[in-house]
Amino acid sequence: MESICKNEELLKYFFIAVKYIIPAILIVIGFIKLVMVTNTKKAIKRFLIFGIIGLIICLLGFYSEKQIKNKCETYNKVEEPIEEPLPEPTPEPTEPSVKEENKIETINGITYVDGIMIVNKTYALPTEYRPSNSGDYNFCTTCLTEETLNAFNQMQADAQALGLNLYISSGFRSYSYQENLYNNYVLQDGKEEADTYSARPGHSEHQTGLAFDLNTIDDSFAYTEEGKWVKDNCYKYGLILRYPKGKEDKTGYQYESWHLRYVGNELAQKLYNDGEWITLEENFNLTSVYE
Ligand code: DAL
Ligand code: ZN
Repeated sequence: MESICKNEELLKYFFIAVKYIIPAILIVIGFIKLVMVTNTKKAIKRFLIFGIIGLIICLLGFYSEKQIKNKCETYNKVEEPIEEPLPEPTPEPTEPSVKEENKIETINGITYVDGIMIVNKTYALPTEYRPSNSGDYNFCTTCLTEETLNAFNQMQADAQALGLNLYISSGFRSYSYQENLYNNYVLQDGKEEADTYSARPGHSEHQTGLAFDLNTIDDSFAYTEEGKWVKDNCYKYGLILRYPKGKEDKTGYQYESWHLRYVGNELAQKLYNDGEWITLEENFNLTSVYE
C-alpha cells in the first residue's frame, strides 16, 4: 500500500488509462467493427459488447480510484507526524512588585529620605546645626542655602515682572532663636495651641536654611495677589508649599500660605500635583508627631 500511495503520479495516469483511454479504445474498436462488418446485427452486438465492457472498465476505474484514494488518505494521515501542541509558554518569573520603601538615612543626626532633608515634629535637627553661610546670626533672611536663595531670587524677579512684590520676612532661624520664639508662643497661647503653628526648637525648617516665610506672616497672605500666585507657581522654582490647607493631620501644622521649602524642581513638581499639594510626609510615608 505504501508504495502505491507514494506513487501518486503513476496512479493518476493509471486511472486515466482505465477510466478513459481503455474504454475509448474499446468503443472505437466496437465502432470500427460496426462500420466494417457487413452483418449489421452481429456488428451491433459486438459494438454493444465492446461498449458495455468499456463502460464497465470505466466505472470500475472510477470506483477503484475512489477506494484507493480513501485508503491512501487514511494511510497518509497515520503516517503524518502528529504535531505535538506547543506547550503554553510559562510566564517569566517576575520580581515581586513591592513598592520599594523610601530609605530613611540619618547622617550626623540629620534625617534624609531620598536625599531630601526632613525636619518635622518626628525628625529634629542637632542643636548646633546651621547652614554654612549663616555666620553667627540667630535670625537672617538671606542666610539660606545657595539653591534656596537662587530659587527665591528667580521667583521674586518673575513675580516682579507681573507687578507682584515678594520678600522674605523670615529666613534662617537658629535653634536658640526658635527656642525663644516658641517659648513666647507657649506663654501667649499655651503649649497645645502653640504646637499647631510653631515648631519646637530643633524641629523648625527655618533652622535648615531651606525654608523661608514670605511677606506678611498671616492668614491674609493667601488672599493677596502675591499669595495666590505663589501657591500656583512656586513649584516652578523647586519650592513647595510646606504646610498646605487640609493637610494638618499630615504635617502637624495649620495651613501656612507663606512658608515655602526648597526641595528641587523634580520633587516640587510632583508635590504640586496640579494644585492639590502633596506633603513631604505623604510622599515619603512619614509621621510628624512629637514623642
Ligand atoms: N511655623 C513653622 C511650623 C515653624 O515654626 O517652623
Ligand atoms: Zn515658616
